[in-house]
Amino acid sequence: MSKKARKVGILTAGGDAPGLNAVIRGLGKTIITHYGMELIGFRDGITGLVENRYVNLDGSTLSGILTLGGTILGTSRDKVNKFPLHGEQVNMVPTVKENLDKLGIDALVMLGGGGTAKNAKLLMDAGVNVILLPKTIDNDIWGTDTSFGFATAMEVATQAVDRLHSTAHSHHRIILAEIMGHRAGWLALGAGIAGGADIILIPEIPYTIDSVTETIRARISRGSTFSVVAVAEGARDATDTASTQAALELVSTASTPENKKAAKIHLATVQDAQREHTFKLARELESTTGLETRVSILGYIQRGGTPSAEDRLLATRLGSATADHIYRGEYGILVAARGQGTEPVALEDVAGKLKSVPTDHHWIQTARWIGTGLGD
Ligand code: F6P
Repeated sequence: MSKKARKVGILTAGGDAPGLNAVIRGLGKTIITHYGMELIGFRDGITGLVENRYVNLDGSTLSGILTLGGTILGTSRDKVNKFPLHGEQVNMVPTVKENLDKLGIDALVMLGGGGTAKNAKLLMDAGVNVILLPKTIDNDIWGTDTSFGFATAMEVATQAVDRLHSTAHSHHRIILAEIMGHRAGWLALGAGIAGGADIILIPEIPYTIDSVTETIRARISRGSTFSVVAVAEGARDATDTASTQAALELVSTASTPENKKAAKIHLATVQDAQREHTFKLARELESTTGLETRVSILGYIQRGGTPSAEDRLLATRLGSATADHIYRGEYGILVAARGQGTEPVALEDVAGKLKSVPTDHHWIQTARWIGTGLGD
């Protein structure tokens, strides 16, 4: 067991998500009032860690933040091993280690998703006592049942799908609601089912125009001259999915740094050509179905605002459980949400992995049973 922690650091990294402040509060209150330790917060994620910018967090700073969206600490997507400095990408792990040692930080709590898991692993390998907490609206972190931010974003996206129904119905239109989620379909699938979307398209199930068209035509023939389609931002048709997979394969099998660089450039070109795919899909559906078609990109609205009760509860549970792990000297872990409780999962089992929607998942089966088109 490590020596008893006295001073803890915390940071929020990656895209913001509702519930970040609730975690800071849950952890902070438990650490300070229950365990009598000190807490400092690094500004702007990895950036503040590298630049040694921080703020002391005490009872008064932690008060009144439970319901606040975003993060009081600020965030960034910087990578600790590829930190932008003087026009170059520099490995700042040694600098961070030195900063933490000088400050006397015994444990570092990082609130983040997949990118943060990689940063956390690098710091852990350098000897930092790291704990990761699962934050993302995408729900794609390996090893945890769910992540804070997801429930709120799903609520927002569901309300949007609800509202799009009345306008699609009134105008006899197809409306495509593009929903965030990065490379996973959890958010579109959850909001699509909860909002009663007629078709749900997710990255895990490559779609064909023929299948989507057929679902819409079948609805027209039953008298429903409108359709609402929940499209995950990462959803692609079968052809685009195949070209992305081939490009990714080239990156992972490249045997020299030169080949890897070329493969990455190729991948970027392939992904660039697929930008605005939801608009392309809309044009195609307008021509195959004859129905006027519109696109609504829900975007950052899904990430902003006050966390739902479910996310506040999850965030507070995760935050206070983390304080207990620190007290026990248990590091190098993700504090995962597991059922109504929490569970430590080794960081090395989490970093670099993505939790996609399994194609036999109960939500997918449910969507099929109620007759929702999935584009396949
Ligand atoms: O990971 C959260 C998320 O909102 C994804 O759903 C989305 O793909 C991405 O972040 C957007 O990133 P950025 O904030 O850098 O535009």
